[in-house]
Amino acid sequence: MYGAIHVPSEKGEATRTYLLEKELLDETRKIQKLNTEKGVFLEIPVKKNVGTKIGSFSVIKPEKPLFFKKTKSLKSHLKAILSEEELALVPSGWQVLGELLIVNIPEALTHRKALIAKTLLLMYPKCTGVVQDFGIEGQFRRPKREILIGTKTETINKEQGCLFKLDVMKLMYSKGNLFEKKRMSRLGGGEVVVDMFAGIGYFSIPMAVHARPQKIYSIELNPESFAYLQENIRLNRVEDIIVPLKGDCAKVTPKGLADRVIMGYVGSTHNYLEAALKAFKKSGGVLHYHETVPEKLAKRRPAARIKKTAKALGKKVEILECRRIKKYSPGVLHVVVDAWIFE
Ligand SMILES: C[S@@+](CC[C@H](N)C(=O)[O-])C[C@H]1O[C@@H](n2cnc3c(N)ncnc32)[C@H](O)[C@@H]1O
Repeated sequence: MYGAIHVPSEKGEATRTYLLEKELLDETRKIQKLNTEKGVFLEIPVKKNVGTKIGSFSVIKPEKPLFFKKTKSLKSHLKAILSEEELALVPSGWQVLGELLIVNIPEALTHRKALIAKTLLLMYPKCTGVVQDFGIEGQFRRPKREILIGTKTETINKEQGCLFKLDVMKLMYSKGNLFEKKRMSRLGGGEVVVDMFAGIGYFSIPMAVHARPQKIYSIELNPESFAYLQENIRLNRVEDIIVPLKGDCAKVTPKGLADRVIMGYVGSTHNYLEAALKAFKKSGGVLHYHETVPEKLAKRRPAARIKKTAKALGKKVEILECRRIKKYSPGVLHVVVDAWIFE
């Protein structure tokens, strides 16, 4: 059975993003507006077999489901040319960043990569280039990539009404974490915020554009990311809000001024907790601490690390929430802990 939930229109975008992030949204059907006696509602399509409730919303059977026109998949475009074995390996997903397509073509299809790139470009007439992705590595999250078609590797990606310029050969762009990025864009109004691992401004820019904090100190160590962070501040006209700081956040994080600190980095985030906690005002503030953690330890370890650092600095902690962002690797979760830090 096709399912849907009815959501008050003002909660529509937040709910849609939540469902998308949790992979519950049925993207083959359209969202419909319903004018009822109780107000305006949105009927949001959800996938089959999601149960009878999502949060406080009941899953109902929609009266008239509306479907998007089916676009041909990459596989079906290549059906007449590739063998069954090759077709089975054809990627079913890719990233569209501005005018560029980033795709991970498996090694076994290397002899077909030019054809796959050309076909993808036919499917996206507005795009001008295709880049093969081999993954990201190191502290700077530097991508390993190869140009398949095109010459221009700098592009501007639009997300949440913000512009993000980057060179896809030099920098990664995390298209995931959309729910977290939206959540951050609603927080921080009127506050002083420190974004410790700012990248090209993934959290700082939407927060500055939409929530308009008093100041955001955005720290970035990689000179290439930092240059684009500066450019994106100008492109989004938030020079009056964002102060970009180049350097290692263990050393350059300002002290004693923050109402909110974002630690949007995983791997060794705990090593920077001392700098993060020292950034808060005496009156306290909210920490958003990201960590990748084995599933079994997810409820305890991130919170314990924050408490241990706070204790050593003579600060107090109240854990507000621990949320799973996504599965990071088999058995490992990417989580974010919100904590109130005070003296
Ligand atoms: C994965 S990006 C995170 C960007 C963004 N928050 C997101 O969710 O996509 C992490 C950024 O932290 C930067 N970084 C890593 N270690 C750092 C440090 N010690 N000080 C400042 N920036 C650092 C990296 O260069 C990278 O641009």
